[in-house]
Amino acid sequence: VIAFFTPKCLAGQKVLITAGPTFEAIDPVRGITNHSSGKMGFAIARAAQEAGAQVTLVAGPVHLHTPRGVQRLNVQSAQEMLHAVTQQAPAASVFIATAAVADWRPAHSAQQKIKKDGSGEVPMLSFVENPDILATVAQSERAQASDLFCVGFAAESHDLLQHATAKRVRKGVPLLVGNIGPATFGRDDNALLLVDAAGHRELPHASKRELAQQLVVEIAQRLPLHSK
Ligand code: CTP
Ligand code: CA
Repeated sequence: VIAFFTPKCLAGQKVLITAGPTFEAIDPVRGITNHSSGKMGFAIARAAQEAGAQVTLVAGPVHLHTPRGVQRLNVQSAQEMLHAVTQQAPAASVFIATAAVADWRPAHSAQQKIKKDGSGEVPMLSFVENPDILATVAQSERAQASDLFCVGFAAESHDLLQHATAKRVRKGVPLLVGNIGPATFGRDDNALLLVDAAGHRELPHASKRELAQQLVVEIAQRLPLHSK
């Protein structure tokens, strides 16, 4: 991809990325989480950095090396992720939400380990909805004024195009990227479906590294020419 190397297509851009799962504690020894290796988000962070951007990566619990030159902030829960993103977003010109955020968290997180009491009774868990990090950022004044370009991801099990198209509108983002499944979790390759206001196109099956480089070019082409 020649355009990727000369000139650097994200020079001068500040890119904020979420990646990995979130972990929502039930008590100090257990919790609920999502399947997500974080590989796609980390690959995009690397590609964006190599394309000349200043990159901040807000990462849930994953065992991956931080790409060279990327600032990494580790978080656990969706609320922590939202907090870190809210702090970083005012300085960013691009926001890419690849994280598999837990949609719900336990309504109460116990301070002490919940013990079996020997009666065979099971604990009853109740949940509350987590904040939608992407929608929150996409509704911000800077995103609405196109000073912050927001990109969402979607992992669907069926009807990808319909769900991705609806999700793009619902989240209020200019670009939504679908994982062409099934089961891309943990793999080193993928295929992507890009959905924007003009329609959709596919980035065919390739390594996550190559797809990340292609996606970076696609994003750069959609940025306003006079970035602030
Ligand atoms: N997302 C987010 N915060 C959440 C939930 C999702 O930032 N609390 C982001 C994801 O990082 C992704 C996009 O929103 O970029 C879509 O996530 P997805 O889970 O596919 O969509 P949801 O809106 O949660 O809907 P559902 O899971 O019901 O399909
Ligand atoms: Ca979800």
